[in-house]
Amino acid sequence: MEHSIYDKRKYPIVDVREGYGEWARTYEDIVQDQMDLRLLEGIQTVDWSAAQTVLDLACGTGRIGAWLKSHTTAAIDGIDITPEMLEGARNKGVYRTLRIANVTNTGFAAEMYDLCTQSLADEHLPELLPLYQEVARVTKRGGTFVIVGFHPQFLMAGIPTHFDRASGESVTIHSYVHLLSDHVKAAYACGWSLLEMNEGLIDDAWLQKKPKWKVYYGLPISFVMVWRRN
Ligand SMILES: C[S@@+](CC[C@H](N)C(=O)[O-])C[C@H]1O[C@@H](n2cnc3c(N)ncnc32)[C@H](O)[C@@H]1O
Repeated sequence: MEHSIYDKRKYPIVDVREGYGEWARTYEDIVQDQMDLRLLEGIQTVDWSAAQTVLDLACGTGRIGAWLKSHTTAAIDGIDITPEMLEGARNKGVYRTLRIANVTNTGFAAEMYDLCTQSLADEHLPELLPLYQEVARVTKRGGTFVIVGFHPQFLMAGIPTHFDRASGESVTIHSYVHLLSDHVKAAYACGWSLLEMNEGLIDDAWLQKKPKWKVYYGLPISFVMVWRRN
């Protein structure tokens, strides 16, 4: 479902490459680690240190790669569709390789990875099935896919992924709403089994960082799902 039907802010909408191309400069000043790193820290079913090969999809500026680096000695590859975001990842020095690619068509050989991750990108995909299919293709049997997403309930409350341009203008990056059941249907169709799931709410820790979000107190803002490839 297009996010625009829920959008309460009505900022102009830009496409993914244009949006993240501009946002890359200030992205890490804005994105909150509580969205995803807090959920990753809570995962019980993944032995991060056991992985030897990891693919970080939609790696952006490399926040997840940096987190992974402190939890595993695995070789970590990253892909993203926005060159300016990848430049930030390159500067972190935590990835073995980085390439420009779509998460639905990574260009990697089949069954290369023990573990795949993707954080905060599924809301930019019109369909989930091609994502789960491609990740199933590049993941070894018995391997793991950890996906963190912007929670559909939060998106449906009217807040899309947005940022302020250098000019000060606020813009929205083209987004879609995928229900949690859409994830389950797409993943099951590609041979994934759900091992673990958690959701993050706007709580006191969030309000300390973003007091203006008191109005959203109690709403779920992000989710994590851990999938095992059958
Ligand atoms: C909110 S950022 C998340 C970046 C990083 N994973 C993080 O958590 O900081 C979303 C990223 O997804 C990338 N992206 C969106 N759609 C994509 C696609 N179809 N294929 C590859 N990357 C994509 C964008 O370029 C952007 O870098």
